[in-house]
Formats: sequence, C-alpha cells, structure tokens
Amino acid sequence: MSHSSDFVQRAEVDVDHMSLDFARNSHEILQSMHGRCPVAWSNHHGGYWLVTDYKHVAEVARDDRRFSSVHEVADPSSPLRGVGIPEAAQHAGFIEMDPPLHTRFRKPWQSWFAPAATRRFEPRMRELARARCDDVIESGRIDLVHDYAAPVPALVVLEYLGLSTENWRETSDAIHSLLSTHPADPRFPEMVKGWHKIGAQVRVEMDDRRSRPRGDLISSMIHTEIDGEAYPEDLLHGDIMDFIAGGVDTTTALASFAFLYLGRHPDERQLLIDEPMRRDAACEEFLRYFSPITAIARTVTEDAQLGDQSLRKGERVMICFAGANLDESEFPRAEEVILDRFPNRHSAFGLGVHRCIGSNFARADFRAMLDEVLERIPDYRIEESTVQQYPAIGKVNGYLSIEATFTPRKRRRASAYSTT
Ligand code: HEM
Repeated sequence: MSHSSDFVQRAEVDVDHMSLDFARNSHEILQSMHGRCPVAWSNHHGGYWLVTDYKHVAEVARDDRRFSSVHEVADPSSPLRGVGIPEAAQHAGFIEMDPPLHTRFRKPWQSWFAPAATRRFEPRMRELARARCDDVIESGRIDLVHDYAAPVPALVVLEYLGLSTENWRETSDAIHSLLSTHPADPRFPEMVKGWHKIGAQVRVEMDDRRSRPRGDLISSMIHTEIDGEAYPEDLLHGDIMDFIAGGVDTTTALASFAFLYLGRHPDERQLLIDEPMRRDAACEEFLRYFSPITAIARTVTEDAQLGDQSLRKGERVMICFAGANLDESEFPRAEEVILDRFPNRHSAFGLGVHRCIGSNFARADFRAMLDEVLERIPDYRIEESTVQQYPAIGKVNGYLSIEATFTPRKRRRASAYSTT
C-alpha cells in the first residue's frame, strides 16, 4: 500500500477485487485496510475507490443521491456505469436504478418475496433439498457443491419464478461459470454466451406467458402495470435475469462455505445437530463471515468527502460488504466465527434502498439445505484434496467443488430430478 504525494494525499492500494490474490486473501486484505485506509483508490479496471469499513460502506450504501446505481448502457459518454466493476454489457433490472424510479419498479415484486410468501414456498424448498440428498444418499459420496448447494437454489428459484426447470443444470452451470471466471480469461466470452442463451430462453418463456398466462410470478409481472403502463419488457427481462443470478449463485456460495466450515469443525457441527434452535443465529454468522456478495459498485454523482478522502464526480466506488462485516469496531473478534454472535447487524444483504429483496427467501432456502444435511448426512467428511475455490472473486465468492464421504443410508422417496 502507498500514498501518492499529490496535495490531496490520495490513499492508494494495489488491490484488484477480481484477482486470485484477493480470492485467496480477502479477509487479510480487507482488515489491513480498515485502520489505515478504509477509503482508498485502486488503479485496476480503469480506477475505482474501494470502501472497506462499516461506517463508510453504510454511508455510501445509504446515500443513493451522491452514490448512484444507475447504468446508462446506451450512453457510453455517461459516467453512470451501474453496479458492476468491470461494467456489465447489459442493464440489470431495478438494481441499476435510483429512487424514485427504483421504488416504483421494485414495489410490484415486493409481496412475492415478503416473509409470508416465502413461508408458503418453504415446504417445496425442503422437498427439493430432500430429493437432492436422496439422489446420493445410498452411495455415501457427495459433492456438496455440484450435487447439492448448486442444484437446490437453481431449482428453487426457477420453480418460484415459474420458469421451466428442464434445463436447470445448464442454467446453474452457466451462472457459476460466468461468475467464477475472470473477464480477462480467454474462456470468458464463452461464459457470456452461456448467459445470453439463458436470456434467450427466458424471452421465449415471457412470450409464452403473455399469450397463455398462468398463476406464476412471471405471468403476474408480465401483466403488471406501473402508472397505467405495462412493466417495460426489457426491464422485466433484466429483473428476471437478476433474480436468477441473485438467487442461484449467492445462496450456493453461502451453503458451500457453511458446509465446508462445518466439515472442518465437527464440534460446532455437532452442536447444531444437537441443538437446532442455534441454527438461525449460525446462519446469520455464516452470512456475516462469508459475505457471498463481496462488493458492489456505485458512481459518484457530485464531488464528495468520504472519510479523509476527496471523491470526484464521475468516479467509481466499490462498496465492500465483506469488508464491513469484518470491521472490529462493529463486530468484536470479527475474524472468528461465533455461531451465537449477538448482536449481528451484518450487511451481507446490503444496506439502504437496494437491500436484498430475496433475503427471506435466501435464508429459508439455506435453512432447508442445512437442516437436510445435518439430519441426513450428519457425519460427512470433507476430502480436502477436492476442495476447489472460485479462481476469481468478483461480485460473488464461492466454491466449484467440495467432495465428501458419509455413512450411506436408505433414500426416503423417489428422486424428482436426476443428478446427471
Ligand atoms: C445468500 C444469498 C444472498 C445474498 C448474500 C444477497 C446479497 C445481496 C446484496 C448485498 C444486495 C444489495 C445490492 C446493492 O446494494 O446494490 C442484493 C440485492 C438484490 N438481491 Fe440478493 N442476495 C442473496 C439472495 C438473493 C435471492 C435468493 C434473490 C432472489 C431470488 C436475490 C435478489 C436480489 C435482487 C433482485 C436485488 C436488488 C435489490 C434492489 O436493488 O432493490 N438475492 N442482494
């Protein structure tokens, strides 16, 4: 880390949130920035501010007037480049809007992700988790990511949206590949193609619901009006794609981290097996410590002071929720997983108006997966040589593979989906 010598004394760090170094050492890097330079400039990806402590992350996330989420895809001269660094080629949905537009376009989705709606769908989440366990339970072997933590959230989200689950594996693989590959990797354009293929399939299903509405979420949204006008088609498509990406990869990452942690800490696993009432608090601690969405971007809309740094209009800012969640001033012994930590006001789901709309849904989905593992394959043993982390940590941090063995058992029911 160095400080430039110009009169502003801009703090600079040589940190790239997409690099392998960050993927492997994010906790150390983020914590080392807290005391010394919680707001610091990185020259990677065209230059951006990295904000890593709780106070300043909260300040930026809650000030959507000075720190905008807007993405002006059609106007390359605009500094407003959305929530991705590097910038995404397409506009996402309402996540890339500021109030009051954001409020108008988020509202119609709200009741679908409220606690009551999530509770109604929870039995189905549990059924899908059970089916995935059943597929492997007689073999005594499981890849906790490939066989379980990836499929369950994919099936759950696709079903909930009302999309076909026929190609769920293709969808799930495409999203995990895209989010785990560095944009400079020669395979990246192929990954983007995979994402566009999902996008094209979603458009076909949207057209189908327009002519033949069903009782599902997509049909409802297609026929939703905002201020007397239909929900704009491209925006709706962006929102659906966001729900797929947001719902699939994040929950997969959370579950992968948790299963790996519990595999390596059998005493704590036993505690959760013996005392299920501890699982809710444990879920919050996993969210804090592993923060699946590490960081998300904003654009500065007017010259602004953040801590002791002067930010200029048009500059890009990366707010590190993962950093805020490791801030000692907010979380004593932040570097320890404390399963019953209280209070635990983590920002893994974000802060401010863009706070995750799917938070209840994600918690219920994760709990269904956790309960099933703790109850049906409680003695799983991780095969350390198979543990493979995402090589690049961009928006989402996670694992590609975690294989484990366990005592085989009889399946409970015929499987709903094949593992292949
Ligand atoms: C463990 C799982 C999850 C984590 C850690 C997570 C994290 C986040 C975070 C940090 C944000 C804030 C983005 C910002 O400030 O710009 C967010 C927003 C969002 N999330 Fe999640 N998310 C999760 C699961 C889900 C699920 C299951 C869904 C939907 C099925 C979802 C859909 C969304 C959407 C649509 C937004 C945009 C909200 C807005 O802009 O108003 N997420 N999420």
